[in-house]
Amino acid sequence: MNLNLLVVAGDGIGPEVTAEAVAVLNQVAASGGHTITITEKRIGGIAIDTDGTPLPQDTLDAALASDAVLLGAVGGNKWNALSPDTRPEAGLLKIRAALGGFANLRPAFAIKELAVNSPLRTEVTEGADILFVRELLGGLYFGQPREWDKAKGEAWNTMRYTKDEIVRVARIAFQLAQKRSKKLTSVDKANVLEVSQLWRATVTEVAAEFPDVTLEHQLVDSMAMLLMTSPRNYDVVLTENLFGDILSDESAVITGSLGMLPSATIGGKVNLYEPIHGSAPDIAGKKLANPLGAIMTGALVLRHSAGLEKEAVLIETAVRKVLEAGYRTADLARGNTTDFKVLNTTEMGDKVRETIASLLS
Ligand code: IPM
Ligand code: MN
Repeated sequence: MNLNLLVVAGDGIGPEVTAEAVAVLNQVAASGGHTITITEKRIGGIAIDTDGTPLPQDTLDAALASDAVLLGAVGGNKWNALSPDTRPEAGLLKIRAALGGFANLRPAFAIKELAVNSPLRTEVTEGADILFVRELLGGLYFGQPREWDKAKGEAWNTMRYTKDEIVRVARIAFQLAQKRSKKLTSVDKANVLEVSQLWRATVTEVAAEFPDVTLEHQLVDSMAMLLMTSPRNYDVVLTENLFGDILSDESAVITGSLGMLPSATIGGKVNLYEPIHGSAPDIAGKKLANPLGAIMTGALVLRHSAGLEKEAVLIETAVRKVLEAGYRTADLARGNTTDFKVLNTTEMGDKVRETIASLLS
């Protein structure tokens, strides 16, 4: 099998972490007699600086011609004064829209070895394993009209969903719930917003197609608290775009570091894979970044775009083993320092590849 993978590393720590993920992907693919053909293109702030736009046309063309896209991160202080439609983030939103993936899968799980990194008590997080299904192409991010009328001193965005947009993402969430613990929690603000009332009514309708899955609805404000007080009560969590953005970052505290978590966006023409962390400009270029989120994202590329489940599991197993063996990046270096050894970004990548090699032999 050959997979044509477009890598858009982007800004900040993006290039450092994607380089480690790509090296792991090449190693694992080769071990199974497969190849991954990598193309690299610019996106985000670096593209603004060199091409004058956060999503150059040739990046977009290459993305649409590829089997999958792996993105590092976009954004940084340098471009903070720009308006939302010209910022690095606009490039990310444009590529998401063009690729068409509307279901963003974001796990948040407890890792035993990292329990000390979570501010939550171990008895609260132990065994927690949540999968967010965040709708990615609707809601406030894309709704029209949107404007900042500076003369009037007034600004507005529109939270808009069609029934079809809700049905298609809900079906994916129910299908995933069928393969997990058959429990789905849908998040909305139906006590205030019409768009949430449509959301709740539509998800309830879709539930009839999946009689084996138990559906519950939660309001987003209380859900924000419940995720921290009783994360083990949740499995698949379905949200609209902004609610999922917020709740998935919040839930990274269950794991202990945003740097550990991968994401996959499916349902469109070409799947898009991103670690859920940002560009972390404060540590960029210092080899301090945790590449494990990007490496785990590589596992999702193999699982969802190449059908290489065994190889995906191999990567995930190697990451667990590296943590079990006491290796950490700086973001994970909490607790008794005699219990672990701190590695920089490339050393951590090397350690994962070394572990994969020994698992293979
Ligand atoms: C994310 C990020 C993006 C989002 C930004 C960078 C546009 O926060 O992937 O969660 O809000 O979707
Ligand atoms: Mn976010």
